[in-house]
Order: sequence, then structure tokens, then C-alpha cells
Amino acid sequence: MRIRGSVAIDLGTVNTLVWVEGRGLVLEEPSAIAVDSATGAVAAIGVAADVLADKEPQDIRVIYPLRDGVVADLDATAEMLHAFLHKARPRNGLLRPRALVCVPAGATWVERRSILAVLSARRPRYAVQLIDEPVAAAAGAGLDLDRGQGGFIIDVGGGTTEVAAVAGWRVVRAQSLRMAGNAMDEAIMNAARASLGLILSRRAARQLKMTMGLTGGDAGWAEAVGIDSARRTPRVEKVSGELVATALEPIVNAIAGAVHEILSDIPAGLAEDVVRGKVRLSGGGALLPGLADRVEAIAEIGVVVVDDPLRCVVRGAAALLERRAAGDAPGLA
Ligand SMILES: Nc1ncnc2c1ncn2[C@@H]1O[C@H](COP(=O)(O)OP(=O)(O)OP(=O)(O)O)[C@@H](O)[C@H]1O
Ligand SMILES: [Mg+2]
Repeated sequence: MRIRGSVAIDLGTVNTLVWVEGRGLVLEEPSAIAVDSATGAVAAIGVAADVLADKEPQDIRVIYPLRDGVVADLDATAEMLHAFLHKARPRNGLLRPRALVCVPAGATWVERRSILAVLSARRPRYAVQLIDEPVAAAAGAGLDLDRGQGGFIIDVGGGTTEVAAVAGWRVVRAQSLRMAGNAMDEAIMNAARASLGLILSRRAARQLKMTMGLTGGDAGWAEAVGIDSARRTPRVEKVSGELVATALEPIVNAIAGAVHEILSDIPAGLAEDVVRGKVRLSGGGALLPGLADRVEAIAEIGVVVVDDPLRCVVRGAAALLERRAAGDAPGLA
């Protein structure tokens, strides 16, 4: 088999992952780029850009160029991806390399075209193909899509929650909610400000979400540092699990609604695959304490969090690329 240096890319709202043929997963970074507003030059990308966010260093603008799983800022996304690919250093061979990029199932034609534009702007050598995220997640979760196996996937990312029934490398039914981890962070920030007069950074809100989620964690409270909204000075506060769970409730309800809707619309022929295979929860949001139990109560069928949920989508896309390199080529979205 000749190596083309093909890549599988999970270009997420919060995290970008790049898998390179022959080398495996080589890059996992926040989807962020910092630009020097005086000169327009790129000051930092990925984790180095993300750590500057919220801290407002002079003349630095931190951009998250994807919103709700799709390209919001074309130039910044192209710049960021170019830099990530430079870092990932795929080997260039004589054959034209493929780039398989994951997109939300609900992405419009224009949104899909913009992903192609982003890659061709700086990396015209790649033959770009797109794969629907729930299909990649299903493959990454270990479903045998080659044999037409079906399953039910919930991918809770940063910008989108994808709820989908899939079978044989295809989406059967899907709903994309433009509401996921970022919306959870914002809900916690709003609740802390309204109830405690505490202005939290996104990072602090995210930490509360991760430690307490819907269950309150071990202690039922957690400490957070923010700015007192009246005095404008830093303040340390004990934040209750109840505040966090209540803030997250509308988002969890929206996810529950989508699960219910898709479950009540699956073809009879898929029912057995779904029940036996269980609902698979992937994406970073799958780690939210209490979410799997809540979904299980709604769905009334078993729910499992996939192995390594943050890498599930790129793992599935890589599996497809590997199959293609070996000469097998299931149809794509
Ligand atoms: N332990 C955790 N508990 C709750 N949320 C978590 C946890 N770990 C990560 N997250 C959240 O998961 C989200 C990132 O997940 P992921 O990398 O799957 O998203 P993404 O692929 O970048 O976004 P999208 O698929 O929507 O474009 C963030 O909102 C992050 O805060
Ligand atoms: Mg994702």
C-alpha cells in the first residue's frame, strides 16, 4: 500500500483533531487562533491561543472561527487549519492525498461548501471529502457499518448536539441542535451572575460543569473564582450543585426532546439494532456527570458512553480513510 499522507479531520467548534495516515492521531488542539490586531499577524493557534482567551492581552484578539459546528469565519478557519496541518506534518507522496472532514449532519449545502473552500484556500493538493459526524461517531463507537449495522448516536460537542439513527455508513434520521457544551457554559455564567452577582470566565464555568454537571459531584458544591459584579473585584465563591444543575436543565431538556423525536421515528427494521446496540453517547458532553442516566430514563433503553468520547468522531473518520486506502470505498455523504 502506498502512503498518500491522507488526513482525517474533526474540525469541531471547541476542539480540532487530526489523524494522519500511517501515523495515527497527531494533533488535538482547541479550535482557536489569536491574531495581533495591530498587524493582523497570527500570534498563536490552538492551545496557545485558547489560554489567552478571556484574559484580554493588549492587541490580541482570540477567535474561535467555528460556530455551531460550522465555519463562521472563513479566513480565520483557513489560517488555523493550515497551521494545524503544518504542525501535523502529513508525509507528502506522489499520490494526491485525501482529506476527510467531519461535518454536522444538519449542515447546509453552503456550510458544506465553506469547508471545501477552507481547505482549498491553503491546501489545494487535498482531494476533500465530507463525512456526517454521526456516521463517523457510529464507526468510532465500533458499529459494524460495513455489514449494514444500525445504531443510535448522540454526539454532544461544544456547538452542536447531533442525535441520529444511522445504518451502513448513512444517516437514517437525524436532528442537529445548535446547543451543546458552549451553551451549557453560558447558562452557568448567566446563572452565577443572576443569583450570586458573580461574573465567571468561560473557563471557570466549564470547570463547574465538568465537576458537578447534573449530579452536584461528590460534595454538592464547588469553589469558583470570578469578579463581583457590584464591586468589580475578584471574589471566591462556593457554587452549589443545584445552581449548576438548574442552569443546565433547559439544554438537557432540549437534548431529551430531540432523542424522543428521533426514537419515535425510527424504522421498525432498525429497532432491534438500536435496542441491542444501546444508545451510544459520544463527544465531550457525553462526560457530563449525570447525562447518560438522564438520557437512559428518557429513552427507556440502555445508554453507554463510548470509549474515549472526545476522539470518537476522528476515530471513525480514520477507520473510513483506512478502508479507502485498502481499496474498499463505502459511499459517503
Ligand atoms: N468532563 C466533561 N463534562 C462535561 N463536558 C465536558 C467534559 N469534558 C469536555 N466537555 C465539553 O465537551 C465540549 C467539547 O467536546 P467536543 O470536542 O466533542 O466538541 P467539538 O467536536 O469541538 O464541537 P462540535 O462537535 O459541536 O463542533 C466542550 O464544551 C467541553 O466543555
Ligand atoms: Mg464534534
